[in-house]
Amino acid sequence: MAGVMAETRSIVVLTGAGISRESGLHTFRDADGIWATVKVEDVATPEAFARDPVRVQDFYNERRRGLANSGIAPNPAHRSLAEFEAAFAGDFLLVTQNIDNLHERAGSNNLIHMHGELCKARCEECGDVGEWLDDLFTDTACPACGKAAGMRPHVVWFGEMPFEMDRINEALESCDLFVSIGTSGNVYPAAGFVQAARMAGARTVELNLEPSQGATLFEEAVYGPAGAIVPGWFANLDTG
Ligand code: APR
Repeated sequence: MAGVMAETRSIVVLTGAGISRESGLHTFRDADGIWATVKVEDVATPEAFARDPVRVQDFYNERRRGLANSGIAPNPAHRSLAEFEAAFAGDFLLVTQNIDNLHERAGSNNLIHMHGELCKARCEECGDVGEWLDDLFTDTACPACGKAAGMRPHVVWFGEMPFEMDRINEALESCDLFVSIGTSGNVYPAAGFVQAARMAGARTVELNLEPSQGATLFEEAVYGPAGAIVPGWFANLDTG
């Protein structure tokens, strides 16, 4: 039962693939997850891209096409986070590990995609980042500098630095509530955010289908499908 936290002034929410599962997108490490059918080292590292760029582009093209499928839409968990953010009087930061666009489509504003975005592409020649909804190919020309062969998904691969870590760490150091939703706690630095929040004296809560790798680090937990447990949990939280 979520307590009324009248003194809650600063909230950080972390989400992972589990929050998008009921929208029809697969997670990574569940039995039917993405890593059950394709290996990280073949499609999600800079080395894989250097070795076989066509295979890597195809992997993200297929996921980008899947996301454009009309059946994929934000679910009640995404929507409840956007609604709470709009009503909350304090600071609210949503950090997602997900590269889908369901949080922004649900209306979330103060949002960081720490692992990048499937619907953006980056030019390795000039650094330009822009929205990209079509397929990317090894000879796709950059819309900014015109050079071909330098375009890649604007996604963080294993071994690369996640985005906006300074801003995320700053928020964690000053939050009084940290809520982790739909993540297995397998991948750092995201898996370490709960420790930073505890160091800041924040209340820590895990909302997940099942206990994550870091379950014992959370003071509170509610287990169940995100679409069923997240709206109710945030509905009980004082918006200040
Ligand atoms: N509701 C809530 N949680 C769910 C649901 C659901 N309907 N379905 C699955 N989950 C939970 C699983 O129990 C698991 O704990 O979501 C979590 C998904 O874990 P992962 O598949 O490991 O996904 P995630 O934690 O987001 O992975 C982190 O790893 O591969 C990289 O870059 C990738 O961002 C990803 C990162």
